[in-house]
Amino acid sequence: MASPTVERAAEPATPTDTLLELDRLDVRYGGVHAVQELSIRVRPGETVVLIGANGAGKSSVINAIMGLVPAAGGQIRYLGQDITRSSPASRARAGIRISPEGRRVFAHLSIEDNILSGGYTLSKAKRDEALAWMYEAFPWLAARRKAPAGTLSGGQQQIVAIARALTASPKLLLLDEPFLGLSPVAIADTSAAIRLVQERGMAVLISEQMARPALKLADHGHVLRTGTLRRSGTVAEIRDLALSEDYL
Ligand SMILES: Nc1ncnc2c1ncn2[C@@H]1O[C@H](COP(=O)(O)OP(=O)(O)OP(=O)(O)O)[C@@H](O)[C@H]1O
Ligand SMILES: [Mg+2]
Repeated sequence: MASPTVERAAEPATPTDTLLELDRLDVRYGGVHAVQELSIRVRPGETVVLIGANGAGKSSVINAIMGLVPAAGGQIRYLGQDITRSSPASRARAGIRISPEGRRVFAHLSIEDNILSGGYTLSKAKRDEALAWMYEAFPWLAARRKAPAGTLSGGQQQIVAIARALTASPKLLLLDEPFLGLSPVAIADTSAAIRLVQERGMAVLISEQMARPALKLADHGHVLRTGTLRRSGTVAEIRDLALSEDYL
């Protein structure tokens, strides 16, 4: 049966196995060209890592995908739609969520209120379902759910930030430097939390300076230096360059 939908599907703007596609993305802050013609893609359910040193442009990429900084050029496509000019709220409604650099949990709010703040548009039933999953996955969160989030360690706050982003069951989770400032034990705990996200079938884009633990979680990756891609490929293909960027 011929229909407009079938005609469109014959020439998709984005391959149908692609969830997110950055097509020559540019980000500028006045005279600073922070991201230059960056093209990457993330498939449904895949984990992609973006490795770069301080100032490489990682947060600029993550924030541009969420709509928190504008794209100065290029296109951001998500589920085949051009979202380059969409608001952060409409991107969130379409299933993109962020755990920002520095986690930014609300220190004076309880752990539970922090988690629920990620799902303010959901019905009570959906929010209860999200909480139930979270507390099963991280029982210590349940035990301390009334405690102010500011009393948690950095690693625990990172898990709360991930839980908050997961409340609305996103299709794409953006993690901006989830390991920043964490101890080796907290990095292991955060990695375990990210694996739970992967098991739920969500796609994850991780920006990191700490290449070693980040590469363990990913399928594909990119090495970014001063806003430009230096190498893209499987984790095995980018490993040596990614490790050499660490702490540059
Ligand atoms: N608001 C801003 N105004 C001006 N320049 C900025 C701004 N934000 C970032 N930059 C510059 O853009 C470049 C990329 O910064 P970005 O924060 O994206 O890098 P990053 O890889 O996330 O670094 P970090 O590891 O320190 O978080 C840097 O040169 C930075 O100084
Ligand atoms: Mg950053």
